Amino acid sequence: MKKVQKVVIPAAGLGTRFLPATKAQPKEMLPVIDTPTIQYIIEEAVNSGIKDILIITGKDKNAIEDHFDKSPTLENLLRSKGKHELLEQVKDISQLVDIYYVRQKEPRGLGDAVYRARKFIGDEPFAVMLGDDVVRSSKPCLKQMLDLYEETGGSIIGIKEVPGDQVDKYGILNAECVKDKVYRCNDLVEKPAPAEAPSRLAIMGRYIIQPQVFNILARTSAGAGGEIQLTDALKELARKDYVYGYEFEGYRYDVGDKLGYLKATVELALERPDIGEEFSTYLKNIISKIK
Ligand code: UTP
Repeated sequence: MKKVQKVVIPAAGLGTRFLPATKAQPKEMLPVIDTPTIQYIIEEAVNSGIKDILIITGKDKNAIEDHFDKSPTLENLLRSKGKHELLEQVKDISQLVDIYYVRQKEPRGLGDAVYRARKFIGDEPFAVMLGDDVVRSSKPCLKQMLDLYEETGGSIIGIKEVPGDQVDKYGILNAECVKDKVYRCNDLVEKPAPAEAPSRLAIMGRYIIQPQVFNILARTSAGAGGEIQLTDALKELARKDYVYGYEFEGYRYDVGDKLGYLKATVELALERPDIGEEFSTYLKNIISKIK
């Protein structure tokens, strides 16, 4: 069985839910506390053992590229001011991993964004991590999925159970449980109406996919929302090959959504050694005043 060595991070969406902040910058560069969301994703990939990452960029790609590049001027300035801790942080970012970029010329959907990766991936299984899904877990979410992949092969979709009235925000699985937290997927549907949803098992921005998906994506036409949907291609893949859903351990934040972004900011801030304690005191004080 071929190993998963490459990750694709689609980051070319318009981010309309976060306008006006995303008018001139990609939403993946919005910071949760002091770190752009895409850096959390890349750290998860690195902590899962991945060495090569392809970011699918769209408009305003410079901010993402510059962020992961070396910055001699900034490094010299921090060095001359004796700010060694910050200097190490800035240097660490550029040394994390090998990052490559491909541009999606128009935001035609997640499926189309992933299709841009076909030459970079070639004939290997690969992972997809969405740029706006941050997962807080004890073992990195992607590592959990890679470990399962070693057992099962096939393709694996990271999932969580969502409340019945929220299924229309997600890709939903029609699947049967084959062991604890693992489901064999028979069918998938993108953003179904609650009455038509086959389950409450929702796709959460982490995938391990076999390369046959590129042949399918090449002929997948626009689906829900007029976009080329990765879910539609995975639906076809599930008819031909094993596709599993995996309920990963951890909490997932949709930081492309205002409320999700706020939750991530508050919860991650509470865990931070530098500001957590002071922030917690502040929050308790605020909450005691809420009527
Ligand atoms: P979303 O639907 O969450 O992103 O896509 P969006 O379209 O940017 O957001 P809204 O709904 O307008 O606020 C999921 C992921 O797929 C990427 C996005 O960048 C995001 O990480 N994506 C989406 C692309 O790369 N290209 C696309 O054409 C669409």
